[in-house]
Amino acid sequence: MPHFKECHDSVRPKDVGLLAMEIYFPSMFVDQMKLEEFDGASPGKYTKGLGQLQMGFCSDNEDINSLCLTVLANLMKKNDISYADIGRLEVGTETIIDKSKSVKSVLMKLFEDSGNFDVEGIDTTNACYGGTNALFNALSWVESSSWDGRYAVVVCGDIAVYSEGNARCTGGAGAIAMLIGPNAPLVVEPGVRSTYMRHAYDFYKPDLTSEYPIVDGKLSVQSYITALDNCYLNYCKKAKNKFHMEHEFSLRDFDFMVFHSPYCKLVKKSLARLALNDFLQNRTIYYTEKDQRNFSNLDNFRAKDLKSSIFDKEVETAFMSASTAMFQSKTENSLTIASRVGNMYTPSLYSCLISTLINHSSSELSGRRIGLFSYGSGLAASMFSMKVCAVEDSARKAKLQKLLHGISDTVSRLDNRQEVSPQEFADALKLRADTHLKCDYKPSMSPDNIFPGTYYLTEVDAKFRRFYARKPLPAQNGHVTNGH
Ligand code: ACO
Repeated sequence: MPHFKECHDSVRPKDVGLLAMEIYFPSMFVDQMKLEEFDGASPGKYTKGLGQLQMGFCSDNEDINSLCLTVLANLMKKNDISYADIGRLEVGTETIIDKSKSVKSVLMKLFEDSGNFDVEGIDTTNACYGGTNALFNALSWVESSSWDGRYAVVVCGDIAVYSEGNARCTGGAGAIAMLIGPNAPLVVEPGVRSTYMRHAYDFYKPDLTSEYPIVDGKLSVQSYITALDNCYLNYCKKAKNKFHMEHEFSLRDFDFMVFHSPYCKLVKKSLARLALNDFLQNRTIYYTEKDQRNFSNLDNFRAKDLKSSIFDKEVETAFMSASTAMFQSKTENSLTIASRVGNMYTPSLYSCLISTLINHSSSELSGRRIGLFSYGSGLAASMFSMKVCAVEDSARKAKLQKLLHGISDTVSRLDNRQEVSPQEFADALKLRADTHLKCDYKPSMSPDNIFPGTYYLTEVDAKFRRFYARKPLPAQNGHVTNGH
């Protein structure tokens, strides 16, 4: 059991945040340029127009339970954590295969050998936002009087699939697990979270017999940008007070900025949108001289207002151009996974965090503030921030290096995936649709091409009970291991 000395009534835990992270994405992907041609879309639409390179997907032998089992088992194994040391486990997902039984309860299968069934937490659902709510719950537990000194874990996962048409290319699949505790190398900054929640029918899944959402694409983009504007406005106000700043908070104060990424072009537009917010509030005066110069000839946009400029191409183009250097230094590196796996829904934002971390050394990250914008249709959104521990704090720097080491194989795993043709991708989605929620069913896709250590669905019996196996990990010292 981890012995956090803060676990006394008199001393509250400090610097609560992320101690370790793990990501899982499927072993198969389709190339977006080939998909453009296959779909008869104009050349460049998915790649240049939406900013996507590849899209990960699952066949009928993976489901939300198998994705989450895989990522949790890998997090625990890689970080050498005992299941007995987990006191809370939260799951965020919108991939619903059972209207009553949670994914969390399935994950408890991994706890059997440890004998630890004293684990709080359950599933949270609201489109791509469930993972963020799960994270907030986990942080609150560690910071609360109910904390018993053990770790919390957040698992978010989804299989993002769309019916045939213009949204299909914005799918993806994957899962992320995060270990939460005090004295973390990546601290979630307290007192500055800002939230925007409203009722909207921009993307929703009312047909419980289908995996596909109903999407109003234009409204979803409008809702995302409106939520971003509102969250940023409130975050800036709270941050100025909380950090006792003499000047107004602006983009300059985020060393890195990561966003929920439905497709990478929207992320570039979002960074430009924050710059537009700063410009209209006269906060670009706090930018570096070099960055300020890029906004110096935009005075003819002074009279614009946020609401009516969401689809104003002239404003968008001018601010995307002016914010290019800031995009390159703060955000571009966050898109390594999102551009190659696609929208994973709840893990999407956290995949952008992982991409930022793997693209910088621990000394480049030390002491930096990372802004995060989480968006889930329907709609729920939050902006919050994480602070990377300072380089002088040697104990926590070692933890940062451990966290970074745990995710350092991400790009090689992306490179080791198998490309399949758009026709095979379309066939796999048809197979998923035809067999969705079937009982008395054994998946037809063989586990041969999934990564070692991956859980997969072996059977759904006549009573709809699901059974899983784990593909063995490569032999160690001549012994094949199942990873436990
Ligand atoms: N070369 C280069 N660029 C091109 C080309 C081409 N041949 N063809 C089109 N484009 C550009 C367009 O100009 C447009 O750019 P812009 O956004 O800068 O104007 C972009 O590609 C997309 O083209 P559209 O015609 O607007 O795309 P479409 O109407 O097919 O829909 C959308 C795109 C809305 C993202 C759709 O894929 C969708 O509904 N996806 C799911 C919903 C979604 O992801 N919403 C975002 C937030 S909600 C969430 O996370 C699920």
